[in-house]
Amino acid sequence: METKKTQVAIIGAGPSGLLLGLLLDKQGIDNVILERVTGDYVLGRIRAGVLEQGFAKLVREAGAAEKMDTLGEVHDAVEFAFNNDRVELKLEELTGEDVIVYGQVDITKDMMEEREKRGLETVYEATKVQPHEVKSETPYITYEKDGVKYKLECDYIAGCDGFHGVSRQTIPEDVRTEYEKVYPFGWLGLMADVKPINPHLIYAKNDRGFALASMRSQTRSRYYIQVPLEDKIEDWSDEAFWDEFEKRMPESARKNLTRGPSIEKSIVPTRSFICEPLQYGNLFLVGDAGHIVPPTGAKGLNLAASDVATLYKIMTKVYKEGDKKCIEQYSPIALRRIWNGVRFSWWMTDLLHNFDETKDEFDRKMETSELSFFLKSEAGRKVIAEQYVGLPYEDLK
Ligand code: FAD
Ligand code: PHB
Repeated sequence: METKKTQVAIIGAGPSGLLLGLLLDKQGIDNVILERVTGDYVLGRIRAGVLEQGFAKLVREAGAAEKMDTLGEVHDAVEFAFNNDRVELKLEELTGEDVIVYGQVDITKDMMEEREKRGLETVYEATKVQPHEVKSETPYITYEKDGVKYKLECDYIAGCDGFHGVSRQTIPEDVRTEYEKVYPFGWLGLMADVKPINPHLIYAKNDRGFALASMRSQTRSRYYIQVPLEDKIEDWSDEAFWDEFEKRMPESARKNLTRGPSIEKSIVPTRSFICEPLQYGNLFLVGDAGHIVPPTGAKGLNLAASDVATLYKIMTKVYKEGDKKCIEQYSPIALRRIWNGVRFSWWMTDLLHNFDETKDEFDRKMETSELSFFLKSEAGRKVIAEQYVGLPYEDLK
């Protein structure tokens, strides 16, 4: 077995791991990333598109923001459509902030390139990654690469390995509590090189269900529809998708819909999930490794970013000031913001999807009334906008 050493060992080269790695490097904190698959495989996962300014600021601090700042689109508004009623939430006017539309694939690629440029070590296709002795002062990770066994000694382990990773499982079952709500529908997403139906995103709901019109640029659209969980991707030809998507858009927007061949099409399940605590000894859970939200509020990646911000501040304090005790602040600080994001995503999901068979006519009237109250009242619009652009990050004590 070959032994290597670093200060912070990061599991996972998704956006959480890459962002944390670049930030730590800026502070002179040595780190190595272990990733199970290839870089191309990571970049093949089409996911988020909406970045909060808090996230964008971190990417700038990490030194990987050049493309995001030139190619990303600043959106100062977002639309909600309920049946054929359309309401624009002027984010900038309501909150003083906006969001950036820039794909997760692009931001991940930018960070990968920056990491490579700085000569920082990322081990792709690392198999059998396993953290050990995480409660001790000398934790380490074992893994294999090209048939060779390695031991990576470190001070801390950042578990940035997503929902299906190994890090969360390292916390003993009697120490962690998991909260979960699985929704009975998935999101069918389609990407196409066509002009977006609207200058801003539209979150739409009518009797047929939910649909989201998003984009990556003025020539690339990213659209979603709610589908039953049992549906398979083979059940949905491009034509069937376009027909259904069109029917779920408000009538006044339909004339602006341009169809085109899909360049990607996939179905993702939806769930809310939170693990408590997010720290166990010298192991930290970051991003999807510790929590998942349904994509309705565009919060998943943005919550991952606030986790990274907190852990980065903590690691900086540990290494610059020798304050090892401050690691205990990670879980409570991160979880406070996570629960807010989980609540917002749950609320948006509940209100904008048709799914609960147990709801009766009264419940549906309540739903309609709630949505119209929030969208018609200035105070209601502000409540949504404030959360959509992202709540502030909490500082360390
Ligand atoms: P991941 O992206 O899952 O990365 C984890 C990495 O760890 C992966 O590369 C994986 O291969 C690796 N890994 C796993 N196990 C191991 C192991 N054992 N050893 C080594 N490596 C391992 N969020 C938003 O904020 N805004 C949006 O608009 C938005 N839209 C979304 C749309 C869709 C359709 C979906 C599915 C999600 C969306 N999200 C959105 C959520 C966002 O994509 C996730 O929150 C984000 O990917 C989390 O990043 P992460 O780095 O924590 O985890
Ligand atoms: C996306 O563009 O992929 C996207 C945008 C907003 C969401 C979810 C996904 O809420």
